[in-house]
Amino acid sequence: MQVFAHRGVSGEAPENTLAAIQLALKLPICGVEVDVFACEDEYILIHDRWLTRTAGLAKRLDQMSLAELLDTPVGEHNSETQYIPTLAQVLTLDWRNHLLNLELKSIPNMRHFCDYLVQHCKAANIAPTQLLISSFHHGYLDEIHQIAAHYTRGWLTASYLLNRAEQAARMGCQWFNIDADVVDLAIVSDAHKRGLKVAVYTVDESADLIWLQQIGVDAVFCNHPGKAQAYLDKRKA
Ligand code: G3P
Ligand code: MG
Repeated sequence: MQVFAHRGVSGEAPENTLAAIQLALKLPICGVEVDVFACEDEYILIHDRWLTRTAGLAKRLDQMSLAELLDTPVGEHNSETQYIPTLAQVLTLDWRNHLLNLELKSIPNMRHFCDYLVQHCKAANIAPTQLLISSFHHGYLDEIHQIAAHYTRGWLTASYLLNRAEQAARMGCQWFNIDADVVDLAIVSDAHKRGLKVAVYTVDESADLIWLQQIGVDAVFCNHPGKAQAYLDKRKA
């Protein structure tokens, strides 16, 4: 079972920051998941529409300019203030040994986003195969498929419905990414039958790791991915 860092190593550094991602890139794990919002003509890494939880600021993203957002502290790591990074900054990191899972939160212009990805990945020598693009907005996954069919896509869901995997497969997605609270053996088997890999979020308990591995889950998103990977490696040894 593969391990992805959820929002970077969000158990040790502020989520979706360069510090959290850099911690993840030092680990022997499969990949790193981050959340992406469009802002003006840029893309930034943040999970919530509101800055209340991440920055302690009662403001919505769309009430702030890009410059203001990039200047907003979102916590500290090793006494260094962390800021919201741009996707361009993240793409300059070393992605040779890790997949980058971009979870699309709000992307109003998919063509612009795809052009941006091509431009920055080319500059950083990142192959499209190193990206996994996922979203709860299934329309986005469809748009990406029409613009750039070569990207690997993950169909996100938090709900318990067997025909979700059918829809994901019909849309040509490769991954079916589901909440740990609703996944079960029937869902995993159904997704596998349809040729989809299954990834589960968010998993930090060792008992859950064992259970998910037993029901055939292919990957997990963890806030403490180093610990999860070490635990899985130890069990394999
Ligand atoms: O992509 C997996 C997971 O991050 C989806 O949920 O809310 O943590 O972005 P959320
Ligand atoms: Mg996410």
